[in-house]
Amino acid sequence: MPVALILGASRGIGLEFARQYRADGWRVVATTRSDDGQRALEALGAEVHRLDLTDPTAVAALGWKIDGEAFDAAIYCAGVMGMRTHGIQPVHQDNFDTVMRTNVLGPMMALPIILPAVEAATQARGGKGGALAVLSSRMASLGEMESNSNWLYRASKAALNVVIKATALEAQQATVVALHPGWVRTDMGGPLAEISPKRSVTEMRIVLAEISRAHNGAFLNHDGNAIPW
Ligand SMILES: NC(=O)c1ccc[n+]([C@@H]2O[C@H](COP(=O)([O-])OP(=O)(O)OC[C@H]3O[C@@H](n4cnc5c(N)ncnc54)[C@H](OP(=O)(O)O)[C@@H]3O)[C@@H](O)[C@H]2O)c1
Repeated sequence: MPVALILGASRGIGLEFARQYRADGWRVVATTRSDDGQRALEALGAEVHRLDLTDPTAVAALGWKIDGEAFDAAIYCAGVMGMRTHGIQPVHQDNFDTVMRTNVLGPMMALPIILPAVEAATQARGGKGGALAVLSSRMASLGEMESNSNWLYRASKAALNVVIKATALEAQQATVVALHPGWVRTDMGGPLAEISPKRSVTEMRIVLAEISRAHNGAFLNHDGNAIPW
């Protein structure tokens, strides 16, 4: 039975990943920091770990909890938008700290712990498969940037992209990618967003099932098309 790890799975896109992988017969290991998240994930039959991804002690403990695991797919979904801004409005330090700790520090603490478990699954499959994806955002693309709205979020996801690329350079056999989920109707995306979590995750799961080592270090849209860094 294939195994998925979903980090930040209490709601939104992360919860939908857990739902779809379970419906497809996968074993799902998922993290949440809330009671509601735990209940929702347990109802799906996922194995749940409580984890605030900005807490160094809790992230280190995750390393012990997943010791010996091999993940065919690992998806880092946790993220925050922070203060919504138009133009280069001054950013408050507490907001900066929250966004950067969640979107950059969390992955920098967790990815080194998760990558070996994805490598292990890749090795078990004879070098095929084994994907580690982090949900970035098209808003981080410098090549496409034509708006300076929400500049703190953009800056955090651009920093995250460096973290993903660095992780890809470390990967020996696994495939590490940055994924843009689309503009999705979640608490973050809002009710007017373009696509449902169901569609976003269905498409990203196809991408994760089809990518190969040639995609290592790529920045991909939910439909599989490349996004300029
Ligand atoms: N929705 C979009 O249109 C869109 C577009 C581009 C990229 N993205 C990215 O996709 C990812 C998922 O977005 P979403 O739309 O599903 O957002 P969401 O509905 O706001 O959910 C955010 C998730 O991140 C978790 N989280 C936040 N801080 C955390 C922390 N310190 N430790 C552990 N978990 C934490 C939340 O857990 P709690 O319930 O405990 O808060 C929740 O599960 C994010 O990285 C986001 O930046 C989303």
